[in-house]
Amino acid sequence: MTKDFLRISHLTPDQGWEIIDRAKDIKTRHLNRIPYATMKGKSLAMIFEKPSTRTRVSFEVGIYQLGGIGLYLSANDLQISRGETVADTARTLSGYVDMIMIRAFSQAMVEELARHASIPVINGLTDLLHPCQVMSDVYTVAEGRGGSLKDLTVVYIGDGNNLANSWINAAALFGFSLRLACPRELAPDKEIFEAGRKKLGERLSIVHDPFAAVDGAEIIYTDTWVSMGQDAERARKLELLKGYQVNDELVSAAPAGVRVMHCLPAHRGEEITDAVMDGKNSVVFLQAHNRLHVQKAIMDILNERMEQAGER
Ligand code: CP
Ligand code: NVA
Repeated sequence: MTKDFLRISHLTPDQGWEIIDRAKDIKTRHLNRIPYATMKGKSLAMIFEKPSTRTRVSFEVGIYQLGGIGLYLSANDLQISRGETVADTARTLSGYVDMIMIRAFSQAMVEELARHASIPVINGLTDLLHPCQVMSDVYTVAEGRGGSLKDLTVVYIGDGNNLANSWINAAALFGFSLRLACPRELAPDKEIFEAGRKKLGERLSIVHDPFAAVDGAEIIYTDTWVSMGQDAERARKLELLKGYQVNDELVSAAPAGVRVMHCLPAHRGEEITDAVMDGKNSVVFLQAHNRLHVQKAIMDILNERMEQAGER
């Protein structure tokens, strides 16, 4: 891992597994009430340009459990909203806190913040990527099956959005098969897809028939059809995606033990039905809960690197 955690594609496979192994250890300690306070006296600035339930709460509780404190900063209340530059914000915060987590619209803005900060920056979602979510989801999959992930097949159904892009990065990193069922008009990012194809070849594909896609699926994954900031596109997206709902009929077309995942928040009745969300194949709340452990692992590893480098 570099100084920051901005994209899963920045990791080596060993670094990806290091996060998963560390999260497993941290989760075991947590369940056995064994303290793991490696960030005593440290602080995490959490900047939000968009709303959040899971990311905010899991990071704030996570840094507290590591022995530090989290500061919730709405971007609207920072001077950045009145024109202070991203670079000056990065330099200023680097003198006060030990780490920054940011949820923003622009991936370029998050990367600029990281370039100018002397402390680690974690990407808590952008329009392009959601790496903390997908690292946690890979952890959930790995926890449920054990061993290598190379024989895994994940099927992503719906909008080719930030989650789809991060799944492509994860498949390329861990070497598993990923099939995306998306309308032609809502394909994932072209550059990310092509980079994924270079690593995975035919094991990464886009199809347009969700029923054909779930054949042989171990995981069916979906996400909201209208992401934050896309309300003006709502009617168009609902129309394009209406055949892509994860419902009982679709789940029945997959192998019996298929696990259904969703990063949440869900729009019940749109991309997923109540019956599937609350049914026996669903692991959506386990996924949400594992965010806590995986993000603690990410913070712990980034902090350890800074300490080893003598920077903190
Ligand atoms: N999945 C996720 O990131 O949820 P929040 O938007 O609630 O943080
Ligand atoms: N794709 C969704 C994910 C929310 C966690 C969004 O960007 O709104």
